[in-house]
Parts: sequence; C-alpha cells; structure tokens
Amino acid sequence: MSANSNISPEPIFQMITGFWVSKALMAAVELEVFTKISGKQVTLQQLQDILEMEQRPTDVFATSLASLGLLKVTTENGRRLYSNSALADLFLDKNKSSYMGDIVTMFDKRLYKGWDKLVLALKTNKPVSAEEGGGAETIFDQAKSKEKIEEIKKFTHSMHGVSIGPAMALAKSFDFSKYRKMVDIGGGSGVYCIEVVKRNPNISAVVLDLEPVCQVAQEYIGKFNLQDKIQTTALDFWKEPLPSGYDVAFLSHILHDYDQDKDTFLLKKICDSLNNDGVVLISEWLINDEKTGPPPSALMGLNMIVESYGGRNYSFAEISKMLKTAGFKRIEKRPLATPAELIVGYKS
Ligand SMILES: C[S@@+](CC[C@H](N)C(=O)[O-])C[C@H]1O[C@@H](n2cnc3c(N)ncnc32)[C@H](O)[C@@H]1O
Repeated sequence: MSANSNISPEPIFQMITGFWVSKALMAAVELEVFTKISGKQVTLQQLQDILEMEQRPTDVFATSLASLGLLKVTTENGRRLYSNSALADLFLDKNKSSYMGDIVTMFDKRLYKGWDKLVLALKTNKPVSAEEGGGAETIFDQAKSKEKIEEIKKFTHSMHGVSIGPAMALAKSFDFSKYRKMVDIGGGSGVYCIEVVKRNPNISAVVLDLEPVCQVAQEYIGKFNLQDKIQTTALDFWKEPLPSGYDVAFLSHILHDYDQDKDTFLLKKICDSLNNDGVVLISEWLINDEKTGPPPSALMGLNMIVESYGGRNYSFAEISKMLKTAGFKRIEKRPLATPAELIVGYKS
C-alpha cells in the first residue's frame, strides 16, 4: 500500500462527471422543461406528456434534475409531483426577465464543441475556430459580415445571462449617487446600464458596441422603457475615438478577450476620454494573485485559450498594473457577484 492510500479518488470522479451535470442542465433548457412547467406541480405522466417522452427517460431525467436542485419533488396521496425549484424558477423560466437559458444554450451549442478540441488549442496557441477555417477572425470580427449577424445576436443574449447577476449586484458594490453620465464599452445587451439607471435616476447611460449588438441592446432597453435614459452608439472601440464627457466608464468581460498590450491600449483610451474626476469600473472573473484559482475564473481563462487570440483571465495585480500604465491613479477591488469581482480605477 502506498503512503497516500488515504487519499480518496472522489474528486477525480467529480471532475470526470462534470459534463454530465452540464449536459443534463443543457438538455433541460433545450427541452424548455422549466418554462413548460412554470407555476405548476405535475405528475410524472403529465411531465411525460409535456416533454413528449416515454416513461423511462422522463423518470430518470426528472430524478437527475431533482438531484441537481433544479426540480422540487413533493409527494401527495402517494404520487410524486414535480415543480420548478426556486433556482430554476428564477433563472430558467423563459418568461422571466432574469432568464439565463441563453447562456446555457451558448455553452451547449458553441463552447462544448470547442472544448472537445482543447488539446489542439493548447498546442497551437490559437482558438479552435482557426482550425475550422475561421482564420484570424474572432466572433466579434465576424459580426461585421451579414451571415454572422444572427450568431453575434445570440451571443449577446447569452452574455445577458452571464451578466444579469453582477449587474443586479452592482448598486451594492459602488455608490453611483455623485455621477451623472455612464458609458458601457462593449456593453452587450446593456444589462449593466439598465440595472444602474433603474436604481439611480441621476444617471444617463450609453451602450457602445457593434451595430448588431446595439440592436439587441435597444430591445432590452425598450423592455424596461428606459429609451429616454439609455442610448446606444455603434462604434468600433479599436478603430474609433471614444466619446468624451463621461464620469463612469464600464467594462465587463472585455479585458479577458485580449492580451495585455491591447488591454492597456484600450484602458489608456478610456482614461484619456473620461472626465478628470471619472472612474473606470471593471467587472471580470478574476484569478487570485497566487494564480491557483478560483476554478470558474481559471477555467474561464482556459475557455479564452479555446476561443480567443491572446485572451485569458487576469489577476487583480495584473489588471492594476495595466490600469496604472494607462494613467489611473487609485485602484480598488470590491466584491460583486461571485465569480465576478469589481475593480475601480480613479482617474484622479
Ligand atoms: C464578452 S462580450 C461582453 C458583453 C458585456 N460587456 C457583458 O459583460 O455582458 C464582449 C462585447 O464586446 C463587443 N466588442 C467586441 N469588439 C468590439 C469592438 N471592436 N468595438 C465595439 N465593441 C466590441 C462585443 O460585441 C461584445 O458585446
């Protein structure tokens, strides 16, 4: 017996079965389980009818979803009744504005395929799309071609799902009361502007992004009737100057898409365009300074190896260094919504 025989293999089993968990959730979202039974308690037979599946897979599937905390099971007169758990009800019912199913679908239909070629991406230091004839183009470069517009729109809906949690938490992490004008650079669906403006009537905001993404942002802004307070501007933040006159610049999940030189270039553009008493707010899934985790941020970094040229997730120390080089004077880190953290950089 080896000296380490008291080490359990359990963590390895948890790791290798990780994709079972993801795929069960992805199948449930694809089948719209939580939307279809929203507000109801259904028997196994009713679930079978709703999902148009036979008894064996329905039973096993329902048990799996219950084991993951997505379905609640109660017993009434000896019959099992299934309903959405509070978690599934809030985030996986299509009819709620907090719906996160688009990000589940994006992980399923886009990232899952790419991760099958992780070893290739690690060996070539190129995104897997490069091997599929994607050349040097990222999904964002492709957004300029007509055929890819639907893909970037879907991506924007899915990013809304990633960002809704941190956007809702933002008001607790940062006091916006003394600020008036916010710009969200690469602002996607506009989720941060929407949540900030809803809670801070003193603020008006602009979402800067590529044209098709601005169209999606306008839909979200319209849903909340915030057209008077939030505008969108189609702009390429690499090629065009950033607008001036803003006191808050927001940047979420942008830095991890690029290498440190490009990021520093963008942060300098932001610093130069901000008002003198302005701040930049950065929401990212940060790596700890020891570079040992946490797993969601570390693995998001690995996802950027699969997906991007030069991108990876950074630590607070690395982003602070970029911010200082770009001209920001004081830099702070604050909790946001795990795994997202907030970095605040003050221009003066
Ligand atoms: C990873 S998404 C983040 C979206 C949003 N900030 C969020 O966290 O939900 C990156 C965003 O940057 C935008 N983007 C990428 N390249 C851009 C460019 N050159 N100019 C303007 N926006 C760009 C994309 O269209 C996309 O909306």
